[in-house]
Amino acid sequence: MYKIAWLPGDGIGKDVMDAARVVLDALKLDAQYTPADIGWEFWCNEGDALPQRTIDTLRASHCAFFGAITSKPKEEADAELAPNLRGKGFVYRSPIVRLRQIFDLYVNLRPCKAYRGNPLNYRDDINLVVFRENTEGLYAGVEFHPVPDNVRRALEESSGAMRAFKEIASDDMAITARVITRRGAERIVRRAFEYAQKHNFPTVTLVEKPNVLRETSGLMTRVARKVARDFPKIELWEANIDAMMMWLLKNPQQYGVLVTSNLFGDVVSDLCAQLVGGLGFAASGNIGDQFAVFEPTHGSAPKYAGQNKVNPIATFFAAKLMLDWLGETERATRLENAIATVIAEGRVRTYDMGGKSTTMEMAEAVAGKL
Ligand code: NAI
Ligand code: MG
Repeated sequence: MYKIAWLPGDGIGKDVMDAARVVLDALKLDAQYTPADIGWEFWCNEGDALPQRTIDTLRASHCAFFGAITSKPKEEADAELAPNLRGKGFVYRSPIVRLRQIFDLYVNLRPCKAYRGNPLNYRDDINLVVFRENTEGLYAGVEFHPVPDNVRRALEESSGAMRAFKEIASDDMAITARVITRRGAERIVRRAFEYAQKHNFPTVTLVEKPNVLRETSGLMTRVARKVARDFPKIELWEANIDAMMMWLLKNPQQYGVLVTSNLFGDVVSDLCAQLVGGLGFAASGNIGDQFAVFEPTHGSAPKYAGQNKVNPIATFFAAKLMLDWLGETERATRLENAIATVIAEGRVRTYDMGGKSTTMEMAEAVAGKL
């Protein structure tokens, strides 16, 4: 029996997770779903959006299934903290980023496939799979403002490029470090190639900018070329992030697996998701060597919370990714086929697809095909 930590979170997170449960139950997955707390109310009431008890539940589970959370800018976060907790040093930290760090979930896997009959498809022949590095790059959290004197001095001593900022006060300057490690680059690129091999993709495209980001994108590129040698049947393509935005709009059907660092992956994957239907269809897996968290990529959409209105298909695809990861290949394929059939028939469509069906009607339609 699988132990799956169940994290609905906030807003429509609850709506889409209830819908996903209908579908998972129809698949008769032998699983125990353990609810756990995550999200805004736990920040407000406890000063922690990801309480330790939730981390303990995750540690006792095979993987986690997560809906969405609400997060707000600093001033609002501080203002909504319970009065008895204010001024006690609580700092809001993104629970999703923390999950990725705590469990070393270094792969952010985002398949973006156009299903026949989806009125939101940009084209009908798109099948993209983004591998975004999930733990380092520009999101490593190495940031300074104001820039401390010792950091500034070290940078000035070791980089001539700092001369351009000589006259700028440390308080008038902010620095975010883009940290790429050989280990981080190697493991994300290797997972991308392994996926391409397993699923018969002829190419892997590295999306970076090594002509300008000579050191960080340069390291990614060198590592990718080395890893590619272990996969002689798969071609490594190299594209710059900016040009890739144009190519993906012009000829998305020419690409397959894409691999990139954290920020570029965030950007590329949103574009790819929109090409195949947008937030109602985009799912992701945050995957490490021991643990994984599966989620729709959308947020908590507060204005639709509890209305049984939003599209749960993204969450169903997240369930499909989870089943794949668990090795439940037969159920994963059946689920994908059921979703594809409902999309192709076009009788049940949520508002984003131009229809009037509810979240639960979509769940029942997919469950009905199982
Ligand atoms: P959002 O993704 O929650 O919603 C933006 C809009 O997209 C919605 O108003 C709705 O029109 C549409 N939408 C989203 N999910 C949909 C679905 N399943 N079906 C149909 N339409 C859908 O992004 P927003 O409004 O920027 O953020 C709301 C809250 O969610 C914020 O607090 C934000 O910080 C948080 N957030 C959380 C994420 C997560 O939990 N992974 C990711 C993105 C945002
Ligand atoms: Mg994003």
